[in-house]
Amino acid sequence: MQFDILTLFPDMFTGPLTESILRRAQQAGRITIHLHNIRDYATDRHRTADDTPYGGGAGMVMKAVPLAAAIRAVTANPVPDAPVPQVILLSPDGELFTQAMAEELAQQRRLVLVCGHYEGIDERIRTKLIHREISIGNYVLTGGELAAMVLVDAVARLVPGVLDAASITEESHSDGLLEYPHYTRPAVWEEQPVPPVLLSGHHGEVAAWRRRQRLRRTLERRPDLLAHTAAQGLLTPADLAFLADLGWTPD
Ligand code: ADE
Repeated sequence: MQFDILTLFPDMFTGPLTESILRRAQQAGRITIHLHNIRDYATDRHRTADDTPYGGGAGMVMKAVPLAAAIRAVTANPVPDAPVPQVILLSPDGELFTQAMAEELAQQRRLVLVCGHYEGIDERIRTKLIHREISIGNYVLTGGELAAMVLVDAVARLVPGVLDAASITEESHSDGLLEYPHYTRPAVWEEQPVPPVLLSGHHGEVAAWRRRQRLRRTLERRPDLLAHTAAQGLLTPADLAFLADLGWTPD
């Protein structure tokens, strides 16, 4: 999968994209990440990428001309199987990013991510060149760069071969439940023993215990998520019986 990131601050991406799992995924050729500096597409002497807003008001607006030139130059360079890549603007006004959205985006061959900055981008870019807007949460960042890094991280780890499949299928949110608690050596730490079932060697009992832990945790921490998971038919009769014992029933 190819990510093209259009930004005024390409240096912000060193570190998050060049360490750990994302570094290995790039070395293994599972993902490629291209950074494009929007300022390189500004044609004036000062390479101006922003300007004051028409009508007045605070802050600066990212100019249409360099941004359009950047998006067009990047998308004019097609990769096999992705002739028309999705162009996504990271913005606090976008659809809220979720695990389901990450799974959907991980099916694409290529994503073009535009990082907004200053007070926003010229609206005409939105209407003409942006296919989708995504927000990573109901808060305002200084720009779309950190949001783009979050999106790349969440999507890239779902690309086949980046992680081993088991760690994805059992994790928080992937099937509407939070994760079970994890333990590793030592068996007792500061008077706290590991739950004995995990030392029992009974795979069936371990799996049942983990499932119950996931249900209990989701009920305690994210009852909203549990209601949604139940409505999607993802809970077994045994799950529902266990939850009923804890006093929870679906609406
Ligand atoms: N840019 C500024 N705030 C943002 C947010 N919450 N999500 C995505 N992009 C942003």
